[in-house]
Amino acid sequence: MDELQVIDDLRGRYGPVFRRRPGVLYVGDPAAAKAVLANAESRYREHSDFFYTSKGIFGPRHAQQEIGRAARNLLRDHWARSAVVALDPVSRWPDAGNLLLYKCFRDALVSRGDLRHLVDQVLRHAVLAGARERRSPLSRAVLRTRVRRALVTELIRRQGHGEPEDLLDVLAATGPADSSHRAWVQLSEVFLSCVFAVAGSMGFLLGWSVYLLGTTPDADADPGSVVREASRLWPVAWNFGRCPVRPHELGDVPVTVHDEVVVCSYLVHRDDRYWPDPDTFRPQRWVDGMTGAEAFIPFGWGPHTCVAAGFAIQVVEDILRRLPPGWHVEPHEHRPQVAAALAPPSFTLRLPDGR
Ligand code: HEM
Repeated sequence: MDELQVIDDLRGRYGPVFRRRPGVLYVGDPAAAKAVLANAESRYREHSDFFYTSKGIFGPRHAQQEIGRAARNLLRDHWARSAVVALDPVSRWPDAGNLLLYKCFRDALVSRGDLRHLVDQVLRHAVLAGARERRSPLSRAVLRTRVRRALVTELIRRQGHGEPEDLLDVLAATGPADSSHRAWVQLSEVFLSCVFAVAGSMGFLLGWSVYLLGTTPDADADPGSVVREASRLWPVAWNFGRCPVRPHELGDVPVTVHDEVVVCSYLVHRDDRYWPDPDTFRPQRWVDGMTGAEAFIPFGWGPHTCVAAGFAIQVVEDILRRLPPGWHVEPHEHRPQVAAALAPPSFTLRLPDGR
């Protein structure tokens, strides 16, 4: 059984709010999930996963918001100016999706300097599906140290430069709250969150969309519905953690300040009160208006909703639209690859000239 099958099983036995293991509570009920994320009663520490770093939460909040918006705008302007990188006639996925997105946005992430090659390695060591298993813990630790050191040096060097050319300039312009080494390390990890979001999350969403469209007979639908339905059925960001700051109850389950509360979009999106036939990929439901928008949180919910949600969907839609007619998919597996992000099963994509 993979992790998702365990969760399905626990949900079936205990209902939509249950303990996954001691100290970890899963929330699959749509209303409870949105209440946790909205945090209107200040029951949880206020943060999103995006700004969570190994040295604590990057802040203050206005700096988070400034960085989020500036990063999204930079990527959006870059996308409007650039041509989509071509796919090989035969490509192996989901890696091909991650590499495609990375190539499309590499110049916007880091436009110059030796750091480009180090960030290339981050992609291979930490972003691709199963990256942890593909590299030894030692080589990952060595790379982490090198990347962190190089990013901190570069961010400090770029402070006070003129018009931002890339994401590192955007981050250096905002700067950390204080000039401690710890604060610069936090900022360097925020840069890596952006790399993961662009090459990892957007790459996997593209992978899911291609996989589902290519393996579902007659799933002929507009790209907008395909991307939304893919992010409903297999949300890449499938769980988001929150830390309670006071005891309370979720459903009938008591929550203590020692628990971690995990909102599970995967479960929320399969609630059959909102989604008829929830386990089926049916893009048409978005056209027919048969949607449970109240139970749709692939980009989070409330104050920390993804600042780039619309942009990410648009990019994946644009790429789907540009696939030449006659492409097809050969699946190698049928279960998702479950890690921090939910990656599609591996498959081969053949374009018409790759027969
Ligand atoms: C398919 C692609 C993406 C998915 C599935 C995704 C998903 C999410 C989710 C679920 C959250 C909320 C996390 C939480 O509440 O703990 C979030 C927040 C965020 N995302 Fe995305 N994201 C994507 C792409 C991007 C991109 C390309 C950017 C680049 C700018 C980005 C920037 C952010 C930021 C800055 C936040 C934090 C918002 C805040 O705390 O105010 N995301 N994302």
